[in-house]
Amino acid sequence: MSDEGKRIDGKLIAEDVVAIAKAHTEKLVATKGVVPGLAVIIVGEDPASQVYVASKGRKAKECGFHSVQHTLPADTSEADVLTQVQALNEDAAIHGILVQLPLPKHIDENKVIQTIAPEKDVDGFHYMNVGKLGTGDVSSAFVPCTPTGSMILIRRVLGDDLSGLNAVVIGRSNIVGKPMASLLLSANCTVTIAHSRTKDLEGLTRTADIVVAAVGRPEMVKGSWIKKGATVIDVGINRIDAPERGEGKTRLVGDVDYQDALDHAAHITPVPGGVGPMTIALLMGATITSACRHADFETPDF
Ligand code: GUN
Repeated sequence: MSDEGKRIDGKLIAEDVVAIAKAHTEKLVATKGVVPGLAVIIVGEDPASQVYVASKGRKAKECGFHSVQHTLPADTSEADVLTQVQALNEDAAIHGILVQLPLPKHIDENKVIQTIAPEKDVDGFHYMNVGKLGTGDVSSAFVPCTPTGSMILIRRVLGDDLSGLNAVVIGRSNIVGKPMASLLLSANCTVTIAHSRTKDLEGLTRTADIVVAAVGRPEMVKGSWIKKGATVIDVGINRIDAPERGEGKTRLVGDVDYQDALDHAAHITPVPGGVGPMTIALLMGATITSACRHADFETPDF
């Protein structure tokens, strides 16, 4: 089945978000003389992390930000990472700090995250920001970028009123599942968080008007699990073997069997080109938002 009219084009919507961030940056610079600054710390040489960090840096420059990257060797001590974070906390030119995860095993990730100044925590992982989201105080919080981007995609296709819709979030991670559930709850959805111990996941998913899949299992969610007319947001990015493309070739798939789900869903995000581009766009969004808060300037709307 063709995905015409059903595919949610995350790439296009992300470009829109970046354009807003860029335009707002120009206003902030012109009015207050403040250039948004984003610092990314990466420890070690994980190739996937390096690719992500490089694209964050490129996008930041495209938005007109001051962008710095601190690349530390894999054997950097925890104390040295904490010192680096503290220096960025005190650096007035930096409004957003992101420590790329995962960190090497000898470093306590949580300790590093909780050292980031909450008002510069553009990832939204600090307890202060988690608490604000949990209590519905979203206006001064930072909310993790992937759920924020996913909500924008949902609102683009369903509009602003999500009242009373059944939402099933598959996955309970701190980065995606839990904050996603909080955002949907704030939008007056009836929310269920499902996970590996959930009974009858298939039947539960079939009750959902909105399905968010964030489990990291390739094509686990089948078309028959999707209610007719549902909106499906696929957060998964899984690399699988693709022998049909030649020996040793791979391809990216989501947590949802896309072709199968097309028969049932009214709206669905592809992988790649769905949620992925939104995550990085919303990191830019969080950075300009932070710079505006620091400069006492109106924040942008995405
Ligand atoms: N590694 C994978 N996803 C993320 C993310 O959203 N933030 C950070 N800091 N690291 C990640």
